Amino acid sequence: MRSQTAISLLLAAVGIPAAAAQSSTASALPKASAVTNNPAGTVYKATLPDEAFFKSAYPEGGNVKGEITAATSPDQSGVIFKVNFSNLPKSGGPFTYHLHVAPVPENGNCTATLAHLDPTARGEEPPCDPANPETCQVGDLSGKYGKIPEGKDTFSATYTDKYASTLEGIGAFFGNRSFVFHYANKTRISCANFALVASSGSPTESACEEPGPASTASGSPSMTANGTIPHSSAPTSVQTTAPSQTSAIPAAGSNIKAGWATALVLAAAIMFVL
Ligand SMILES: *[C@@H]1O[C@H](CO)[C@@H](O)[C@H](O)[C@H]1NC(C)=O
Ligand SMILES: *[C@@H]1O[C@H](CO)[C@@H](O)[C@H](O)[C@H]1NC(C)=O
Ligand SMILES: *[C@@H]1O[C@H](CO)[C@@H](O)[C@H](O)[C@H]1NC(C)=O
Ligand SMILES: *[C@@H]1O[C@H](CO)[C@@H](O)[C@H](O)[C@H]1NC(C)=O
Repeated sequence: MRSQTAISLLLAAVGIPAAAAQSSTASALPKASAVTNNPAGTVYKATLPDEAFFKSAYPEGGNVKGEITAATSPDQSGVIFKVNFSNLPKSGGPFTYHLHVAPVPENGNCTATLAHLDPTARGEEPPCDPANPETCQVGDLSGKYGKIPEGKDTFSATYTDKYASTLEGIGAFFGNRSFVFHYANKTRISCANFALVASSGSPTESACEEPGPASTASGSPSMTANGTIPHSSAPTSVQTTAPSQTSAIPAAGSNIKAGWATALVLAAAIMFVL
């Protein structure tokens, strides 16, 4: 805050009006990429549990009811979100909801879902400007498409977001993550994981999406960093690891030789200096 004031004063001193500085800040925000190759026919759904995580939101028990359904758009450009909530809390609004980066663990701990899905790392400040959704956090759905007003029992909305993605392997992918429903003050009321409910993939493709314990135990295709199994990795990985293992021995041998040569040259140099 203080440094922002200092910057405004400085800019004012050199004759740049504050409004211009403001808009240059907005254009300096990283821009999320519109994803145009989401897999056709893919649908994910997240349904809130029966009991709230923040118990004092429903002292008599219960929770916000509802779900988010997210389907690849028919032209594969963007994802159609259908949001439907009821039994909303009576106070503490307007409520917000976001895609979060980590899934909800077995114990339902909404804190463990960590931060908002934000592959461009723009952070929460300055707040999302819905006029420029590409500059918002990818997961900031209520920032981009509207908060949930207090004083009503239900809320529903349908919109297409171009930045969140059903394409596995990219940062904007949310199919293995969660959403969190918050009070206006950010306290987490409830949360739920997305689960795949439809896909047009062939049976082999869907088998690839869910690495079973059997495939890892048998030492067949290893998982990549993002948790997916590359389709054709089995033969290639065998071929690439085998030669590199055998060639490791001569390579180590020549390294030792090189080491000795370096030591001899160094010794000669030291003797020369002395
Ligand atoms: C939202 O959910 C309620 C009940 O849970 C249901 O009656 C209603 O049809 C749903 N609305 C939409 C738009 O899906
Ligand atoms: C946030 O607001 C809710 C509802 O008003 C309240 O119960 C909760 O204690 C608040 N959390 C914090 C951290 O102030
Ligand atoms: C919930 O998750 C947070 C963040 O990972 C952790 O600090 C906290 O101890 C967890 N609480 C429980 C009850 O597991
Ligand atoms: C979810 O998927 C993304 C992209 O494929 C990956 O980077 C991330 O590590 C995955 N998260 C979890 C919790 O598996």
